[in-house]
Amino acid sequence: MSDKATLKYQDKEIELDAITGTEEETGLDITQLRAKTGLITLDPGYANTGSCTSDITFIDGEKGILRYRGYAIEELAEKSTFMETAYLVLYGELPTTEQLALFEKQISDESYLHYGMKGHFEGFPDKAPPMAVLSAMLNVLSCYNTDLLTTATEGPKFTVPAAKIISKVRAIAAWAYRTSQGKPFMPPRPDLSYSGNFLHLMFSQTFDMYEPHPDVERALDLFLILHADHEQNCSTSTVRMVGSSHASMFSAVSAGVGALWGPLHGGANCEVIKMLTKIHEEGIKPRDFVEKAKDKNSPEKLMGFGHRVYKSFDPRAKILKGQVDAVLKALNISDPLLDIAYELEEMARSEEYFIERNLYPNVDFYSGILLRAIGIPVNMFTVLFAIGRMPGWIANWREMHVQSLRISRPRQIYTGATLRDYTPMEQR
Ligand code: ACO
Repeated sequence: MSDKATLKYQDKEIELDAITGTEEETGLDITQLRAKTGLITLDPGYANTGSCTSDITFIDGEKGILRYRGYAIEELAEKSTFMETAYLVLYGELPTTEQLALFEKQISDESYLHYGMKGHFEGFPDKAPPMAVLSAMLNVLSCYNTDLLTTATEGPKFTVPAAKIISKVRAIAAWAYRTSQGKPFMPPRPDLSYSGNFLHLMFSQTFDMYEPHPDVERALDLFLILHADHEQNCSTSTVRMVGSSHASMFSAVSAGVGALWGPLHGGANCEVIKMLTKIHEEGIKPRDFVEKAKDKNSPEKLMGFGHRVYKSFDPRAKILKGQVDAVLKALNISDPLLDIAYELEEMARSEEYFIERNLYPNVDFYSGILLRAIGIPVNMFTVLFAIGRMPGWIANWREMHVQSLRISRPRQIYTGATLRDYTPMEQR
């Protein structure tokens, strides 16, 4: 079978090489298309465009498969920790005992924020959205690390900023939350796990140290593992886009936070809880809500449903659903929102509208209920997603520089006015 495709347009003909990945995914290489034919391709929303080759994450949306560096998400969720998974995503292999210990120590040593950053936090109004604070403070971090604003992919010039971002993002998130609550910042506790330390930074009081329930700590760790990477989604593509101009790792991940914030992406986990709360508090019948979500004239959508890539199920949602049950049981919590969520899911799974559009619960559908159960305030949900996604963003930023990719610069088909004369003011 030929591994070339032939494209004919008017009197021109070009052969396009087919590039096949290790999982037999194939794409046509169009890099020479414009030079040889004058044509570009048009794909708004990039739904059918491969922007890179990548060794990091594999998704088969039709089969509901997600793997980091070849390892199934189900196995990582069961056997790994967030620190181990972060190492795997960043460096490509599971760490040895020594490598993991060194990595954890590096992350632990970077838990503190420079005291000078206090003033920046105090400058934000109480109601500042935490994602805005997070994005801003990641750029502020670069101001305290001006010797690390490089595109290095090896050695301390890479490992140090990577460790700083992965570690300090917890303190930034917790400090932002505590400032909005008028509470003092807690010093980190390096004796705790990555997730345990974050929970301590969020919830400990000066004379009342928060001791995380082991199930809660594990549930948070699992949440972070499930969010560690997801190939070329909106925020990761943004990180690559910004990084491609050779902007620093700090500014690239700061831009990633901005992209993740939106309700169609990471912001959906907050929107799911807002939707379930509205249904609960206003006594809306789930059936009526589903009808509204199907109605094109209504602005309502079933938040937490649908995905650009997954067309059978989102494996992360499946894992989280099981975890939600376990955590609520362990903490002896009964959440009426969970019953509504089950009801909506049941209805959506059997309705023609959702089936024919392949709309299934995505990772955000159950993650909100899990985060709520472990005491995370709703406006911090997307921040938690960002904390989990840092290893993936940094791994993609690194891979792009290892491959020496060109600056990202899509083209367009111009549809505006053609050349016209300037109209003097009095004639307009
Ligand atoms: N509720 C109701 N209808 C929906 C939903 C939904 N949640 N999602 C998609 N549809 C419908 C669309 O109206 C469209 O219908 P049509 O073909 O009759 O016009 C069809 O399904 C296809 O939807 P698109 O919007 O074209 O799908 P796209 O791939 O562009 O968008 C997205 C995917 C953004 C995730 C969308 O499904 C959505 O808005 N979902 C709700 C928000 C959400 O949960 N986002 C989190 C995604 S996961 C993540 O980012 C971590």
